[in-house]
Amino acid sequence: MILIIDFGSQYNQLIARRVRESKVYCQIAPPSMDIEAIKELKPDGIILSGGPSSIYEKNSPKADSEIFNLGIPVLGICYGMQFMIDTLGGKVKRADKREYGFALLNVDKSKWLFDGIEGPTQTWMSHGDSIDTLPPGFSRTAFTDNTEVAACQNRKKNLYGLQFHPEVEHTKKGKAVLNNFIFTICGCKKAWTMKSFASKTIWEIAEQVEGKKVILGLSGGVDSSVTALLIHKAIGKKLTCIFVDNGLLRKDEGKQLKERLTGSLDINIKFVNATKRFLEPLKGVTDPEKKRKVIGKVFMDVFEEEAAKIKDAEFLAQGTLYPDVIESESAFGGPSAIIKSHHNVGGLPKDMKLKLVEPLRYLFKDEVRLLGKEIGLPADLVWRQPFPGPGLAIRIIGEITAKRLKILREVDAVFIDEIKKNGYYKKLWQSFAVLLPLKSVGIMGDSRTYENIAALRAVTSKDAMTADWARLPHKLLAQVSNRIINEVDGVNRVVYDISSKPPGTIEWE
Ligand code: XMP
Repeated sequence: MILIIDFGSQYNQLIARRVRESKVYCQIAPPSMDIEAIKELKPDGIILSGGPSSIYEKNSPKADSEIFNLGIPVLGICYGMQFMIDTLGGKVKRADKREYGFALLNVDKSKWLFDGIEGPTQTWMSHGDSIDTLPPGFSRTAFTDNTEVAACQNRKKNLYGLQFHPEVEHTKKGKAVLNNFIFTICGCKKAWTMKSFASKTIWEIAEQVEGKKVILGLSGGVDSSVTALLIHKAIGKKLTCIFVDNGLLRKDEGKQLKERLTGSLDINIKFVNATKRFLEPLKGVTDPEKKRKVIGKVFMDVFEEEAAKIKDAEFLAQGTLYPDVIESESAFGGPSAIIKSHHNVGGLPKDMKLKLVEPLRYLFKDEVRLLGKEIGLPADLVWRQPFPGPGLAIRIIGEITAKRLKILREVDAVFIDEIKKNGYYKKLWQSFAVLLPLKSVGIMGDSRTYENIAALRAVTSKDAMTADWARLPHKLLAQVSNRIINEVDGVNRVVYDISSKPPGTIEWE
């Protein structure tokens, strides 16, 4: 495995993704990680990430300098390299101006990190400081017009440094450089596959829970569905999933989930119809944050009541993913941590005296999908687009009523049906309909209508932090609009949302 020490770079998760794409397991740890703990992990290599600090800043992050004496190969990237050079007796110079953007890299020797790579090749730079003097035993291995030492190494001690970012796509040979480090220098094997992960994890779950009962809040999203199937494979009926129908789901959602998971997969699921308990306190509520609060509170109440009915349960399972683990363990709680917190409406009670089972806590989202496929989760669950915890409540602008829910469900179902039929579902991050609190005049046959307006939203995105509106073909939009106005009672106008995030958000509320 490869250990990545996180000095706070916005790219640190990308480094981990690249390593795993090469089928090598890796973990991200803060610079404060104890040297004994590092030794215990027995990494085959260590990568020191970049970071926003300058090595000269008073509180710039530092790792234990012993990592350079463990005999484990180390690759320092940007700040990581500067930390290494400074620690080992070299000199880092402060820059007058930052270098940010593309730079052509010239390679001194096409060996080791640059095995098979000849310059000049395009790289991506983002740094202020740079190397002035190398420590004894180091030599330069690459340079650019602006940066005299763009890469360096100490072969004897197996230490390497890069000023550019090999993990970003703009660096053309970045993956090859990382692979040279992982395979040629560290000697890692391609052993990280979802097949091996699945069998190891199923075994570990069985060991952890020792035949005791486990409860899982199932939403039907890919994370909770994969968690359910994994645990089911480990302990069968000792797992009880609780699926709360809050009355804010899409058309036939609960029914489809039942068919997929309880049928041939035989997962133990308790379906709780709590529609009234959610819709009652939502009456008259129009403020989006208030809607979220009401839904979050009722969810907790219902879940706790249901969980209490399962006697002797000792464990609570959750589909927590690695990005959330990294963020919560990170020494650098970034802005994304704050943005996400308000989304955790479906979060679970903290004071339930249950131990946690989190089998996905080392996986990224795309790995979860691969895992789901590997263990036999039906394809439509594997590829399901994200759906917010508060559901249709934040897609009905204004007051939520049973009638408006019905209209929105029908509109949404037509849109998704056409998106799927035309092969767009997997290409989009999310696609859905929104019901507006406005009416407009229309004409149907010979008579005038005065009905609701529905908006369609389809976006592409990698992580929901930014998103672009999808350029769906006009023909498809025309077909969707036609079908909605003809098939759904109560809608006479359809509009398409062409705002990106930022400054818009994906949801309308
Ligand atoms: P926005 O609208 O902020 O959404 O661009 C980003 C992503 O988060 C989802 N989302 C939520 N998920 N509870 C959730 O579980 C929420 O309250 C919530 N609000 C937004 C949204 O669907 C998108 O994927």
